[in-house]
Amino acid sequence: MTATNHFYETFQPSHYNLYLDINRETKLISGKTTIMGNASQTAISLHQKFLNVSAVEADGEAVDFNLDQPAEAIRINLKQAGETTLTVTYTAPLTDSMMGIYPSYYEVNGEKKQIIGTQFETTFARQAFPGIDEPEAKATFDLAIKFDEHPGETIISNMPEVRTENGVHYFDTTMKMSTYLIAFAFGELQTKQTKTKSGVTVGVFGTKAHKANELDFALDIAKRSIEFYEDFYQTPYPLPHSWQLALPDFSAGAMENWGLVTYREAYLLLDPDNTSLEMKQQVATVIAHELAHQWFGDLVTMKWWDDLWLNESFANMMEYVAVDALEPDWHIWELFQTSEAPMALNRDATDGVQSVHVQVEDPAEIDALFDSAIVYAKGARMLVMVRSLLGDDALRKGLKKYFEAHQYGNATGADLWSALGEASDLDIGAIMNSWLEQPGYPVVDAQVVDGQLTLKQHQFFIGDGKDTGRQWQIPLNSNDSQAPAIFKDAKLSLGNYDDVRQRLGEPFRVNVGNNSHFIVHYDEKLLNDILAHVDEFDAITQLQLMQDLRLLAEGRQISYASVVPLLKRFADSHEAVVITALYTLANNLKKFVLPDSTEEKQLQQLFDQLSAAQVKRLGWLPVAGESIDDQLSRPMILSAALYAQNADAIAAAHQIFQDNQAQLATLSADIRGLILTNEVKHYGSEKLFDQLLADYQQTADGSYKANIRAALTSTPDAGLIKKTIDQFENADVIKPQDLRGWFRGVLANPHGEQAAWDWLRTDWQWLEDTVGGDMEFSTYITVTAGVFKTADRLAEFKAFFEPKLNTPGLTREITMDIKVIESRVALIEAEKNAVNQTVASEVK
Ligand code: BES
Ligand code: ZN
Repeated sequence: MTATNHFYETFQPSHYNLYLDINRETKLISGKTTIMGNASQTAISLHQKFLNVSAVEADGEAVDFNLDQPAEAIRINLKQAGETTLTVTYTAPLTDSMMGIYPSYYEVNGEKKQIIGTQFETTFARQAFPGIDEPEAKATFDLAIKFDEHPGETIISNMPEVRTENGVHYFDTTMKMSTYLIAFAFGELQTKQTKTKSGVTVGVFGTKAHKANELDFALDIAKRSIEFYEDFYQTPYPLPHSWQLALPDFSAGAMENWGLVTYREAYLLLDPDNTSLEMKQQVATVIAHELAHQWFGDLVTMKWWDDLWLNESFANMMEYVAVDALEPDWHIWELFQTSEAPMALNRDATDGVQSVHVQVEDPAEIDALFDSAIVYAKGARMLVMVRSLLGDDALRKGLKKYFEAHQYGNATGADLWSALGEASDLDIGAIMNSWLEQPGYPVVDAQVVDGQLTLKQHQFFIGDGKDTGRQWQIPLNSNDSQAPAIFKDAKLSLGNYDDVRQRLGEPFRVNVGNNSHFIVHYDEKLLNDILAHVDEFDAITQLQLMQDLRLLAEGRQISYASVVPLLKRFADSHEAVVITALYTLANNLKKFVLPDSTEEKQLQQLFDQLSAAQVKRLGWLPVAGESIDDQLSRPMILSAALYAQNADAIAAAHQIFQDNQAQLATLSADIRGLILTNEVKHYGSEKLFDQLLADYQQTADGSYKANIRAALTSTPDAGLIKKTIDQFENADVIKPQDLRGWFRGVLANPHGEQAAWDWLRTDWQWLEDTVGGDMEFSTYITVTAGVFKTADRLAEFKAFFEPKLNTPGLTREITMDIKVIESRVALIEAEKNAVNQTVASEVK
């Protein structure tokens, strides 16, 4: 262990009185914070960032202090240690950074308005008030807030308001909680409310730019999620209310502040009459995620950020557990298989990736831990393994114990394993530490060697990787019940293969259900056996087969060309998961062809052959009463037909556009994005561009906005690309929170790649000033690396980012992304001829 420097060691707060006077006009916050607590020594430190501190008192007497800006600290020398009441008087700027206390901007009927809200995770509470801004430093809080208030405004916070006096709003004392979960917001808000069975008031809040019925879906999901968790965790929701607030400017997706969860508008509010099922599922999982945190994260909090996975991995698993209970028809675990599983498997295959549990101190590095592929997706997969090893009964029993033991306090990974271990008599910690502490994951080679069925494990890499002999305790989930539950050695023999095969009466398989975090490399004999029976297997097995083979091809363990013939075998599936895996694989072939080449034409022909029958079967518009799988498959299939340049598809989409030109927003949300994109690509004009951009600015519907963004960024017109990029820094049109999507869209458009890349390099400083300092920033690098595929771009990427390698919070991302591009460039070089030849022979 390296020596830590946590301020909590010097001072342990028990209670805060926070007084804030916020002036939107002057953009100034005046504050006075009183903290009661215990000083373990006379030299103590509080956190602060960007605060102008005018006075510090200890027990009513002025004391010496100084501001240590690099350490984000106020250093204070007390006369004596022991119980102390500190009072800090300060001012702070109100800035547009989406961190700390910040304004959100929106318009109602052309009138510009703002709401003030907060974002304190990870270390931004210190920009709002001084204190010990560390998760372990739990205390109770009394908030008192004054602002330049006008009639019609509402203020909300973690706890209910108890009184207003002289324009100051006083809120009830909070439970013992961490600073990063404090929140409040005020402005002209609308709300809808209801009560859970147990009497918790649940509410949804948003600006008045939205129609009232846009709050309904979220209210229903939030209410039922809380009811679900109270039952699942066997632990009551401890606060009087649970508010869900949509903020027009929001850096993350959503934030689990205790009692006042904040969201991006697109992740909370939706038009109940015209929103795609995909988007509804996304909103439901986001709400369920944040509400899972009300226990996992808020009631019990990780002791330090190294155990961030205790919050995020858990909430990421629970969002699926909850939504599966609330909407069983959705089969939401299929979404887990098509989104989280591949995300984790892709990223975790690059050498240099971090482990789920990781030592961390620097605030920028703490932000960098929120990696959606690792702490979220891989962590959730880890816990899915735990859940399947334990079963729900033991899991729930263990969780109840864990909450009882640590509520209003903190915990570490070891605390969770011990509670779950007690409930299950399984040394779950020993199994899970191999997944938690080690980066990467294994590929299991399943082979018949000299008649013996053998399994071997070794680390799987995409790109260069140094094999350091890592081993995992792998929950095997074989269909052979005589195989061990856990495979923990380098090698395992399962006996005579012919005997096993005969006993099973079906092909031998491991990782049945695809719930363990590994992939399988079957030898030819075993794979051919599986392929011969593939139609008899369920959708998840089919998905898994395509997913694992794709990864093996990316990792150069098998030839990429060998997976191409698989596509046609699954093209007519009626299962959305299979269609998703199929087109994920097919879309991965696009990197092997150049724009406007013969090879591209052939690939397009393949897409046409894959999609033609399904386009005919499904048609363009959703049909009442059709299956959920058909609803989810349609956009993928139509998108394939459009990529294929199928003339009928292009004309059909154009016709739908023309029929709905006067009310584009009301086009069926399932296909609206495709229709608009088709129009811009094939029938685009400056007039259409301007019309869509005006709609973009004017609409409050997040899905419609995303559709327009996808359409406009796909233009082949150099002039319009320039016009788009000219809006990147205009927050009145493109909010900084949405810019990454625009950047990605233009960069991924072959006609826009150069211009977007030039913009990023030229205006990097602007980007850093605008979104630097929060976790959004580094993802611009990830997005760029996701697109680049040539040696020239690799060289440019290195030339630009290598000098930035020492920027806190960017180091790992830059290192990883150089590898990602390097391995893609090498893969394309090595495999493109074989892949393209196979594609050509497939379409003959
Ligand atoms: N605690 C996070 C929000 C967060 C992320 C705060 C990073 C500070 C830094 C929240 O619970 C979360 O995980 N949000 C996700 C959405 C979620 C549904 C996966 C997000 O913002 O991406
Ligand atoms: Zn979360």
